[in-house]
This record gives sequence, C-alpha cells and structure tokens, in this order.
Amino acid sequence: MSKDFDTMEDSNPSANPSIHDVSDPRRRRLLHGSLAAAIASAFAPLLAGCAGAPRSGGPLIGFKGIAIGTGDALVVPEGYTAEAFAPWGEPIGVPGAMPAWKPDASNSADEQALQMGMHHDGLHYYPLDGSSSRGLLVMNHEYVDDGLLHPDGLKTWTLEKVRKSQAAHGVSAIEIALVSGRWQIVRPSRYARRFTANTPFAIGGPAAGHALMKTAADPAGRTVLGTFNNCASGMTPWGTYLSGEENFAYYFAAGDKLDAHQRRWGLRKDAFFRWAEHDERFDAVKHPNEPNRFGWVVEIDPMDPASTPVKRTALGRAAHEGAWVAVTKDGRAVVYSGEDARFEYIYKFVSRDKIAPAGAGKTAAQANRELLDHGTLYVARFDADGSGRWLPLVHGQGPLTAAGGFADQGEIVIKARQASDALGGTKMDRPEWLAIDQKSGEVYCTLTNNSARGQPNMPGVDAVNPRANNVMGGVIRWKDDGDFDGTTFRWSHLVLAGDPANERAEAKGNVKGDIFACPDGLVLDARGVLWIQTDAHATQMYKGELKNIGNNQMLAFDRATGEVRRFLTGPTNCEITGATLTPDGTTMFVNIQHPGETPSDRSDPAEPGKFSRWPDFAPGGRPRSATVVIRKRDGGLIGS
Ligand code: FEO
Ligand code: CA
Ligand code: CA
Repeated sequence: MSKDFDTMEDSNPSANPSIHDVSDPRRRRLLHGSLAAAIASAFAPLLAGCAGAPRSGGPLIGFKGIAIGTGDALVVPEGYTAEAFAPWGEPIGVPGAMPAWKPDASNSADEQALQMGMHHDGLHYYPLDGSSSRGLLVMNHEYVDDGLLHPDGLKTWTLEKVRKSQAAHGVSAIEIALVSGRWQIVRPSRYARRFTANTPFAIGGPAAGHALMKTAADPAGRTVLGTFNNCASGMTPWGTYLSGEENFAYYFAAGDKLDAHQRRWGLRKDAFFRWAEHDERFDAVKHPNEPNRFGWVVEIDPMDPASTPVKRTALGRAAHEGAWVAVTKDGRAVVYSGEDARFEYIYKFVSRDKIAPAGAGKTAAQANRELLDHGTLYVARFDADGSGRWLPLVHGQGPLTAAGGFADQGEIVIKARQASDALGGTKMDRPEWLAIDQKSGEVYCTLTNNSARGQPNMPGVDAVNPRANNVMGGVIRWKDDGDFDGTTFRWSHLVLAGDPANERAEAKGNVKGDIFACPDGLVLDARGVLWIQTDAHATQMYKGELKNIGNNQMLAFDRATGEVRRFLTGPTNCEITGATLTPDGTTMFVNIQHPGETPSDRSDPAEPGKFSRWPDFAPGGRPRSATVVIRKRDGGLIGS
C-alpha cells in the first residue's frame, strides 16, 4: 500500500562498509551436518537459498535489462512472456459457487466473497505433490479502492457496500495448473478458499483470552472476525502461509477523545474506510478493544481447507508488513518481521520448540500448530558501529513490568510499540519486506522511504537510517551472531536507492546499474537472485527527484557484484508487490496492485479507468489488480 509520499537522502556508503561479503566463502556459515540442514533439505524447495536450486549454467542474471516504464503497459525483457492472471473479480472455484465477474462492478457482496479480492499483494506458490505445473496460489488482497469496487463508487454508502468492501479484502487460495503451456485456475477445486474481513480466526499466543482482546461479540477474547490490510506474505518451512495485517488503524473510527494507547497506534477520529457507518464493530468508541484484535501475523494452512486460520500474537502486534521464517541449527523457527510505519520497529521471534516433522497421520502444518505460540519476541536496536542487539520483549525484564505499565506478556504483545519504546528499539524508515538467506545467515529488509526523517519535531538521522527527507529508501542487511537466534548482530546497507542525476546528495543513492526508488517487495529466489519491487505513490512519480524513475518496477539484484538490473515495469500508477516461483524456477508469479491508482487513492466513479485500463483495456473498463505469470520463451529459468 503506497500511502506515503517521500523524498530522501543518501548516506556515505563508505561510512557503512559492507560487513558481510556474501561472495567471500570464508564468511559463509554453511550448516552441513546440522539439524538446520536436515530441515532445510526436508522442506526444500520451500526455503529460499537452499541447496538444490535450479541451475542455469550461465550468469546469475542473464536477461537484457529494460528501460524505465512510462506507459499503461507491463513490460518484461526480450525472450520473456507476461500474462495477466487471476485478476480481481475472477471466481476462485468454490464448488457450486462460481459467480462470473461483471465488468461494471455490479457483483454483490456475496458474489465478491467467492471471487478474487481486490489489490493483490504478497503471494506464494504451494506445489501439489512437488509439482511445478500444479499447485496452490495463495495471496493477500491488501485493501480496496471503493471508487472502483462499486458501480457508483462512493456516491452512496450502504451496508451491502460495506460487506462487499470487506469481502474484497483478505486472502485468496486458488488451485492452478499449467495446461498446454498456459496457467489456469482449476475450477472447481476443494482448495478454493477466501478469507475476508468476516472470516472467523482463532487467536493463539499470549494475547488469547486477554482482557484487552475481549469484546461484546467475543467475551472470551479468543475468536476474531476477519483479517484485513494483509500486505506481505511469508511461507513457513512446515507449509503454511503467513500474512501481515498492516494498516488496520485506517478501518476504525475512534472519536475525538483518543487515549494514549489509541494515539500510539495511529487511530483517528474518522476511519479512512467507511465500514463503521454500517458495521458498528468498527466504531472504536463503542468497541475500544476491537482494534487490538488486528495488527497480527496470521497463519493459514492452505493445504487443509477445513483448517481454522490463527492470529499468532506471540509474534507481537504491529502494522505488520509480513513475516519470514529462518531455521536455527537446532531446528527452531525464527520469524523476522517489520512494521511498515514511519519510525517503527523490526522484530524477531524465536520459537521455544523445534519444528516438528510430519508423521503419525499429521502433516507438517498440523504437527506445528502451536509452534508460533511459544517463544521469545525481540525488537532490534541498530547501533552506530555496525553492531546491533535484539532486545527481549519479555514480561518482568527491564522496564516491561506491571509498574512499567505492562500487566503481563499479553499486554506486552498487544502494546508492542509501547514496549519497544520503553526498551529503546531503533525507529526505522518504514520496514517493508524481508528476505532470508538460510544458507549464509543474512537477512535483508527494504526500508521503503520516510520523508519525515529529520523534519522538525521528528527523529533525526541515525546510522542505519542515515538520510533526512528519505524519499528514496533502500535495503539493509544483517546477520545474527552465532545463529538466527543470536541476540546480537552486524548490519550494513546493501543499497541506497536513488538517482545520481538528482542535485540533493541525499537523493542520489549508490545504485550500481538501473535506478529505482521506494523498494518494498523483496524476494530471494532459489538461485540467489534478490528481487526488488518498488512502490512509489502516484503523487510522487514522474516528477521531482523521482522524475527519471518511471513506473513502479521490479529489478534483479546480484549480491555478489552489487549490480541492479531492471526486469519488469508495471502499468500506470500500479505498485509491484510479491513474487513467487515454481520449484523448477521456470514460472514466476508477480502481483500488480492498484493499476491506475489516483493521487487520492479513490477512483473517480465517473471515469474509473482514467489513469489505467490494465489489464483488460476494455473501452470504459476498470483497471484490475492481477497476478502476472512470467515465463521464458525457451522454457528456461526466470532471471537467467
Ligand atoms: Fe502494504 Fe507496506 O505496504
Ligand atoms: Ca509500500
Ligand atoms: Ca508493501
């Protein structure tokens, strides 16, 4: 979700030298003979960076880079094809319930709940029987443009429209297959499933049943209706899907008497999304605990259509972009996550228990149903000397006591921001996606931008967030000392985005190759290519310091050479977000979100296709978020 309009600055790269040279074999910590290697092998190719990656025999990045994007088109390099797939409104294939898409947006709320949601975001491919030609595609639908979602946009506002808006949010699971060279949705399918803003979710972890989670409709505080503003996706080694509930605060109307807790979480008098006008649950004056039930990482088992999705509160509450899993040498899960909000934090969670194998009639997902409910949560502090420390958010330690305002661990995870404030975590420039190299131990994180950095009454620059008025963003990396559960780490900047043509030193960046700004999506593929996707806002593109950057894009980063090469440019005013590959590396799925987004995030209902008509290009038609299927004409590996 591109909600921030930023300009930025650059740091002196030499002031933050690369700490981990991944090309240096002496610095690689391979896990031969360890349990981690066994687990990585058992779950390959689910873990990025595992052994057994598809091999091209050529250079890591073999395609011819493309120019910046300027039109309402999606462009990929020579030798590649890109086809829109599973757009908003397409029936997902629930048996006996497959309402066709209506181009005038007149599908009902009930029909929308059986169709692809709007505003595709993070996604992951789950092979069926290890196949690269049949699997499940699970994806987030971050938010909606109500101007596009309804035939008359926002001219009227009714409960039916609220329900349709809620049904277009959440997550979709579809079965897909490669048939005669083209990917298709398998319909009907027993796996076809939607999770919307009204789907029941269980609550796991220390906030389950907590007083701050109880509402009139759920006096036990153990079941929440819905997930929304789901941004990035993560895949667990045990085969489940993790999704972050990001800007949940935009959905609640909290009145004009905000308490300190509500203020700290960005609640406002009026909601951005107008659900509260017809669905009282989103009136936080009447239901002050309802917002506490969002901002979690949710876990979904896509292979078990009867499974109940769970909010994993042990991972902490945040405007979560997403969550990504590494495995320690002794087989425990470490979940890294960030909070995409200005001056918020990066977290990690280390599970108490080891990842259990499948067996005794249970799938791996079923054997690890409570794994993420028990463990230790930490917030990151990045120090000026290139070191860092993971500070434990544990009740009774340091300031996190009853006297400090935290009654118990449940209150700590619900108020993770306040707990992190108390511990002195580092306030970051909007952490978005992370990517983990299980083999080298490196973790990468995009910091998309933060124009407020260094502004009056705002935090100033620091070593890891070194640019005031940071409109360009960048990517950082760190490596925990010892293992992924290490409580100290070393960090550095991987790349500072920017354009050398800019006058302001802070906006030049240090990109070696094709320029970009506002990195958001970040995916490390099995061959070792780090894919960077961008999300500059419509108000920000094509002018000022971003005038040479073009449409939002996806680029390949070679970690050995530092080269950045442009692979894909999207249609007008879209954001590129999420990428996943089949195990054989020959198909990549990429999500294109909000083509034609207006500067106000609301389409003009009189002319919904004013800025983009991608991908249908029908006269008078509406733009639709969609997945793009990318293949190489010669059947080769994507990126080679
Ligand atoms: Fe939903 Fe942080 O982008
Ligand atoms: Ca973003
Ligand atoms: Ca994002």
